Amino acid sequence: MTTSTSARTLIRGGTVVTADQTFRADVYAEDGVIKAVGPDLDAPSDVTVVDAGGCYVMPGGIDPHTHMQLPFMGTVASDDFYTGTAAGLAGGTTMIIDFVIPNPKQNVMEAYRTWRGWAEKAAADYSFHVAITWWDDSVHADMGALVREHGVNSFKHFMAYKNAIMCDDEVLVNSFTRALELGAMPTVHAENGELVFQLQKQLLARGLTGPEAHPLSRPTAVEGEAANRAIQIAKVLGVPLYIVHVSCREALEAIARGRMDGHRVYGEVLAGHLLVDDSVYRHPDFEVAAAHVMSPPFRPKEHQAALWHGLQSGTLHTTATDHCCFCAPQKAAGRHDFTRIPNGTGGVEDRMAVLWHHGVNSGRLTMNEFVKVTSANAAQIFNIYPRKGSIAVGADADLVVWDPAATKTISAKTHHQNVDYNIFEGMEVTGLPRVTLTAGRVAWQDGDLRAVRGAGRYVNRPAFAPGFDAAAKRKEALKPRGVDRG
Ligand code: URP
Ligand code: ZN
Ligand code: ZN
Ligand code: ZN
Repeated sequence: MTTSTSARTLIRGGTVVTADQTFRADVYAEDGVIKAVGPDLDAPSDVTVVDAGGCYVMPGGIDPHTHMQLPFMGTVASDDFYTGTAAGLAGGTTMIIDFVIPNPKQNVMEAYRTWRGWAEKAAADYSFHVAITWWDDSVHADMGALVREHGVNSFKHFMAYKNAIMCDDEVLVNSFTRALELGAMPTVHAENGELVFQLQKQLLARGLTGPEAHPLSRPTAVEGEAANRAIQIAKVLGVPLYIVHVSCREALEAIARGRMDGHRVYGEVLAGHLLVDDSVYRHPDFEVAAAHVMSPPFRPKEHQAALWHGLQSGTLHTTATDHCCFCAPQKAAGRHDFTRIPNGTGGVEDRMAVLWHHGVNSGRLTMNEFVKVTSANAAQIFNIYPRKGSIAVGADADLVVWDPAATKTISAKTHHQNVDYNIFEGMEVTGLPRVTLTAGRVAWQDGDLRAVRGAGRYVNRPAFAPGFDAAAKRKEALKPRGVDRG
């Protein structure tokens, strides 16, 4: 394998795996874009040749849910846009969709510009969902500007985090209505924030101050109620809906019911929720238990089985990480009050490997389904397909050369994420990226991370993904009609 950084790259001798096909082919990329896919391609002069013998060549992963350097709960997430995207590249993820989260009453465009500035150091491509945390006419106008002029096609709503960024139903209805008008996807963090708030108070009053109280304050019904409410609101308005980090059977069943009712509702599941259970919160070491505090919390094991079935059945569409890292000294803010532990865990580097190991190696997912749930579906839902999530002439050369025989033991001691803990610590995985290419350039090769600060590009996402045309037709077909009584 040569190691130049030329803008011409030939991936030779691999098996291409896309969302719907598996075939032997070389892939040739020039200036960041795939120019040819086929058997035995000629190598032009001055080309970087990547040997993919014995490997699969797949679209780079898209993590549709990360929070790099997020200011949250009195601190700032420890992975920034450079370290976080670099860690993603080490794990085969070539694009993230992060979140702009304005404070309530903060001008939305101002927040958007702030996040755009922070993200300039990203080493891989990125885009932003924008959170709607409050409502007035300026928010209505800014949503329009973001969609029409800034390539934003999704808006996030936190139904939890009362007295901070939580939306009530009034904001949800206003924002969902506006999103439909604009052809943008509303998304929700589904937890009933009032219930969480009251349960937290009750638990603290009983003297339950440790991390073991965190899941008790956010039982699965809290998530099921909010998921169901958001779905029913979206259904009444006729707007598609995407539910982030579905963690339990109740929320999964709400999505399944919504879909059975003919509604376009999509579900995302985190690698962590598929593989980690709630016993972590009873760990005797505060640091270990606090390191797992994230919302929704890790759940009893039976929910993990349900989530895998959700992925297998197509009720859940994407896999993400909600990568939002805080180190032990940051988590220590909640040593005497679990409600003050900054919520968040990592995983952007590990998602592809743990999904491959526990999904493909176990027979839960085919390789093509793996591509769907790690890149293609996110690209389609957020309307950047086939530029992202595919291997075809004209697509971005964001690629991963996947060695199905490579193994490692995941550990915070060796990971590239800027955090002192790994929720998959000690997990042995088989199937790893041998090479990751971002815009045709090798950024990870055989353990050597060559991420370039600032090389990532902002990805514009056009409005009116195909589901919106369909939604508009359904709305027209089902629109209220009066009775003509002469
Ligand atoms: O605990 C979490 N998930 N922290 C990040 C913010 C969010 O809720 O997604
Ligand atoms: Zn309007
Ligand atoms: Zn969330
Ligand atoms: Zn999140």
